[in-house]
Amino acid sequence: MNSEIASSHPAAHQLVDTFSRSISYLRLSLTDRCNLRCMYCVTEEESNQCPPKLQHHDLLSYEELLRVVGVAVEMGITKLRLTGGEPLLRRGVIDFIRQLGALDKLTDIRLTTNGVLLEKYAADLLAAGVSKVNVSLDTLQPRRFAKITGVDCHRQVWRGIEKALEVGFASVKINVVAMRHINDDEIKDFVRLSRTMPLQIRFIEFMPIGRSTRWNDETFISADEIRTRLAQFGELLSLERRLSDGPAQVFRLGEDALGSIGFISPVSHHFCDECNRLRLTSAGALRSCLLHDDEIDLKAILRGGCDDQGISQAFLDAIRNKPKGHQLEERLRDSGANCHGQMSRIGG
Ligand code: 5AD
Ligand code: SF4
Repeated sequence: MNSEIASSHPAAHQLVDTFSRSISYLRLSLTDRCNLRCMYCVTEEESNQCPPKLQHHDLLSYEELLRVVGVAVEMGITKLRLTGGEPLLRRGVIDFIRQLGALDKLTDIRLTTNGVLLEKYAADLLAAGVSKVNVSLDTLQPRRFAKITGVDCHRQVWRGIEKALEVGFASVKINVVAMRHINDDEIKDFVRLSRTMPLQIRFIEFMPIGRSTRWNDETFISADEIRTRLAQFGELLSLERRLSDGPAQVFRLGEDALGSIGFISPVSHHFCDECNRLRLTSAGALRSCLLHDDEIDLKAILRGGCDDQGISQAFLDAIRNKPKGHQLEERLRDSGANCHGQMSRIGG
């Protein structure tokens, strides 16, 4: 094993990048397939047909994934998030999670889902070792949901959220991508929900990423604007930031609120300085920044017959190449440059 990580000194098990950031979090996209076609994720043509998908052989097998995660965990990764596309669409996912759960040093397994299959799988996910779930839900209105996602299944997602709470997930977060003239009139309804249900509602700034061309200055709403608009509903009480909040700033609206409100502002106040993550895309590429298209083809390395040191070297290379930040505002201002990686392959 590489000398940088082979020492028995505990500090040697920390993955630290060129900018002194400790990397402890891996996001794993299990599939690029999805049963929704969210308007910010697919192009307008794709919203009417099925976008091209990876073939089964193009995905890393569960065996390959377990091997990669095993090495990553030995190197210092402690937190894993399963994403997609829609991760619950991948056959055998519960068994896979159970095997991940058996990795001693992996202390935290989370899942981001669109919720369509959550009612069916919530109990199994909890039993298999997932501790927290994030559900993407941009509207509380069934007809609008069908417009945004291309599929009329709002009730099913809602039942999934209720089921996740019912089976006992300690943390259920709702990801809301805020878009002007599309769902910004519902900010107050989401906030009301954070008072009456033990959910964390997280408003995420719309990012210019992927092939969708719907992002523009007009649809974008900053987290600051949402906060200002919320002021009319009462005082936002800042909650102490916990490690599990990630980049979100978290508040509660009123002492008696059962849930909380989070703001994630990757565009206006990027949190690159604190970024602790790497991504493994569904095509098996290691990506050190969501918004930079540089990737290391770990699948090719694996299928070339590498030993575990080859895997750890790929992680060290990805960390060495992790950029300081995404400079998204500057890039947009200078050239309108987007990041072209597909959200459904990268996993958010
Ligand atoms: N901007 C912000 N968030 C996005 N997501 C998908 N595309 C975008 C985008 N362009 C969100 C999804 C999901 C999470 C993984 O990323 O809603 O909750
Ligand atoms: Fe929507 Fe996520 Fe599916 Fe994209 S991958 S269509 S954002 S649910």
